[in-house]
Parts: sequence; structure tokens; C-alpha cells
Amino acid sequence: MIKNLDKKVSKYYKRLDTKLNYVVPNENVFRLLGDSNFNFKNKKILDIGIGNGDNLLEFQRRGAIIFGIDIREKILKIFIKKNKQNPKNYFYCDLNEDFPKINKKIDLVLCKDTIYYLKPERQFVIFDEVNKILKKNGFFLFQYIQTQLKQTSKNFFSFNLGNKSLFHNMRHYMDKQNPLPFLKNQHIKKLLKNRHFRIKKNIFDINIHTKNKKTIYTVNRFILLQKI
Ligand SMILES: C[S@@+](CC[C@H](N)C(=O)[O-])C[C@H]1O[C@@H](n2cnc3c(N)ncnc32)[C@H](O)[C@@H]1O
Repeated sequence: MIKNLDKKVSKYYKRLDTKLNYVVPNENVFRLLGDSNFNFKNKKILDIGIGNGDNLLEFQRRGAIIFGIDIREKILKIFIKKNKQNPKNYFYCDLNEDFPKINKKIDLVLCKDTIYYLKPERQFVIFDEVNKILKKNGFFLFQYIQTQLKQTSKNFFSFNLGNKSLFHNMRHYMDKQNPLPFLKNQHIKKLLKNRHFRIKKNIFDINIHTKNKKTIYTVNRFILLQKI
């Protein structure tokens, strides 16, 4: 357990509360939902930890009504203004302390690359809050970085990430400033024990960063839950 994780997180994100960057929507989010026959039209979708809002905007493009929560006030304001959003649908909140009052029933909650910024006990609270705001049979899609691997030896056609002579597991995230720990499988299992959800899909994908001469493989876990 990391000491003062909440303070470290708020300090880390204060520094990053400056400007919106351009990223792209995540292909696997849309593939997973498409494969589950999720129809976006007029659905209410909440993103917990909106980042640059690319997934939200893609939901909107597909006909959804979008909502977001984030610890970065300035980013939220810029996002609302730039994309002509309804300010009532956006909530500035540190989820380590609070969860906003949202008086709407939601069809889909996305929480991508965000859960580990919360203290372990707060992660359980978020699952309970998501359960409260979701409609029956609503979806909760959450994703986290399961691990990162560094390529230690070059082999032109290698892809077996389990080959210990070619790759090794990183002990810290690639971004050294990032205060969060890798989540243990045991902890994820405990979160998933929440009796209000059933697991619809559980997949992983891999993406790559090449920095200087280093290649780092990020293994992302995506879990799609449905409210019972
Ligand atoms: C790594 S980014 C991921 C952004 C986006 N979901 C994505 O996948 O691209 C984490 C997001 O969670 C927000 N966040 C981090 N800690 C938070 C907290 N304690 N309360 C609310 N939002 C937080 C950050 O501001 C940031 O937008």
C-alpha cells in the first residue's frame, strides 16, 4: 500500500491540469461494446476520469448523452467550452474524497486507466456508487494496466511476451512520476466479488511505447460488467 496516495495523486494531477491534448478514442472500448450489441443512441454514458475526453466525444458522435467526472477542474472547463457541453453533466471531484450526486440513471459507466489513482478502500466505494447510478442491466466497463514489460533483447520477429530472456516485468510504471502501484490480481478479484455485477467480457490488449532505444509493452485488462 502506498502512503498518502491521495495526496500524491492530487499533486500529480494539479501539475497536469493545464491544457487538453489530442489523443484518440480507444478502439477496444468500442469493439467490446459493439460486440455486446450496445446501442449508443440516446443512452446516458458517464466517464470516470475523462482524460482528454476522446472516448466521451466518440460516445456523443454515436448518439449518446455524455457525462464526466474528473479531478482536473481546468481541463473540465476547457473541455466543456471547446465541445459545447452542458456544464451540468460534468463534475469536478476528487474521488479519493467524494463521489458527485448525479440525479440521472446511467446506461454505461466507463472507468479507464483511472481506478488505481484511488486508495484501495475508495475503489470499493466507486464500485458501489456505480451500482447505485446504473440502470438495471446497465454496463460498467473498466480498464487498468495489468503490467508493463520491457524488451531486454532484440529478436526481429519475437512476440512471446512470456519469454523471460526477451522481456522482463517492470516494477514501476514507465512514467516514473506516476504515483500509482500496479494492482494485484487478488485485489481485482475482490473488487469483482461485488454481488451486483456479472462479468460479460474479460480481455486484454497490448500496446507499445518506444522511447529512445527502449521498447515497453503495456498489457491492458478490460473488464465489462453488467448490473444484475
Ligand atoms: C491516466 S488518465 C486516463 C484518462 C482516460 N480515462 C483515458 O483512458 O484516456 C486518469 C484520469 O483520471 C483523473 N483522475 C485521477 N485521479 C483522480 C481522482 N482522485 N478523482 C477524480 N479523477 C481523477 C485524471 O485527471 C485523468 O483524467
